[in-house]
Amino acid sequence: MNILSIETSADETSVAFLVAKETKKSTTFLVRAHETSSQVALHATYGGIFPNLAKREHAQALIPLLTLVLKKSKIYKEFKNPKAVNKKKLEKILEREHSLKETLPTFLEKITPPKIDLITVTTGPGLEPALWVGINFAQALSFAWGVPVYGVNHMEGHIASSFSSGKKTFTLPHIQFPVLSLLISGGHTELVLVTDIGKYKILGQTRDDAVGEAFDKVARTLSLPYPGGPEISRLALQAREKNTPQLYTLPRPMIGTKDFDFSFSGLKTAVLYTVRDKKIKTETDKEALAREFENACTEVLIAKTRKALQKYAISTLVIGGGVSANRYLQTQFNIDAKKNKYKILWPGKGLTGDNALMIALAGFLRYTRNKKPRPLKANGNLEY
Ligand code: KG4
Ligand code: ZN
Repeated sequence: MNILSIETSADETSVAFLVAKETKKSTTFLVRAHETSSQVALHATYGGIFPNLAKREHAQALIPLLTLVLKKSKIYKEFKNPKAVNKKKLEKILEREHSLKETLPTFLEKITPPKIDLITVTTGPGLEPALWVGINFAQALSFAWGVPVYGVNHMEGHIASSFSSGKKTFTLPHIQFPVLSLLISGGHTELVLVTDIGKYKILGQTRDDAVGEAFDKVARTLSLPYPGGPEISRLALQAREKNTPQLYTLPRPMIGTKDFDFSFSGLKTAVLYTVRDKKIKTETDKEALAREFENACTEVLIAKTRKALQKYAISTLVIGGGVSANRYLQTQFNIDAKKNKYKILWPGKGLTGDNALMIALAGFLRYTRNKKPRPLKANGNLEY
C-alpha cells in the first residue's frame, strides 16, 4: 500500500511517502521520502507559535515539499500536455485557502496522478487554522487523484512514532498490549493506557501547563530563545559537566499524589520568582537553575509513570512527543526501566518532533484494522 502523509498541526510542515508491505507474519515499511520544513526560526521572534502566521507558512511550504517528496520517491511526472482538472470543484475545496487556491489547481494540472492508495492527514489536536491547511490540501489531492483521505489524531501519531526505528526500511515491532504511553510535548502531558490500536484511556494529564510549554516559558524567563527545551537542556548539561553545587531547590509538583495527573505551572512560577528575586547573577547560576528545573520535571514524570506501570501491571512503556528528545530524561528513564524491569520504546531517530511519518503509521494502523476514520474537520481539542 502506497501512503502519502501530511502533517500541519503546529509549526512543522511535513510530507512523507511510504510503502507498506504486509505479510501474514509482519508489516514492513519502506520510507521513500520524508521532508519537514520548520517554522521554528520564524516563531522564535514571538516566543511561541502564532496561528495565522503558521497557517500562511504551511500554505507556502506544502507544494514545494510535496514536489520534493514525489521527486525523491521517483513518482513525479509532468504531463506533456496539461490535463484539465475540475478547477471549480478544486476551488470550492480550497475556498478558505487563498494562496493554495491560486497555486494548487495549476500544479495538479501539470503532474500525472502518482500511484497512491491512501492519504493520511492530521485533523487535531493542534492549531485549527494550521490543521485546516493540511486537511484542505489533502482533500484537494484526494479529489484530483481519486484517492481516499484518512484523518489522523496527532497524539495517536506520537504514540506510533515509537513503532519506527527511524531507518528507511523498518518492520513494525510486535507489540504486546496493553502498553502505557507517556506523551510529552508542547501542548500535552498525558499518561495513556493503550489496550489495542485505537483503544485509549487517558489515566492522567496536566492540570495546567504541558511540560514542553513549561520548558519554553522557563527559557523565556531566562532570556533564552524558543523552543526552550533544547536550550534548557544545553544549560543543564553544562551544570552537570562542571559539577556546579546545587544552588536552588524547586518543587516537584504532585509527585506524591494518588492520581496520575501533573502540574507544571507552579514549577514555572517558582523559576520566575527565583529569577525575580535576583538570585540569578552569573551564567553558572542560570545553568544550575536549568539543571534543577530539568531534574524536577524528570523526577515527576518518572515517578508518576512508574506508578501507573505498577498499578496496571504493564511492562511496556511507549514514550512520544517533542520533550522525549531530552537526553537527561532519556538517561534517567532508561535507568529506571532497568531497575524496575520494564521496556521502553522510544521514537525512532528524528521522530520525536512533529512529522508526517508518524501520522502515516497511525493512519495505516487504524485503516487496516477497519477503525472508523476521523471526520475531515480540524479539531483543536480532538480526543482519542
Ligand atoms: O511534539 P512537539 O514537536 O510539538 C507539539 O506537538 O507540541 O513538541 C515541542 C515541544 C516544545 O515545547 C519544545 O521545547 C520541546 O518539545 N522540546 C524539548 C526538547 N526538544 C524539544 N523539551 C525538552 N528537552 C528537549 N531536548
Ligand atoms: Zn506534537
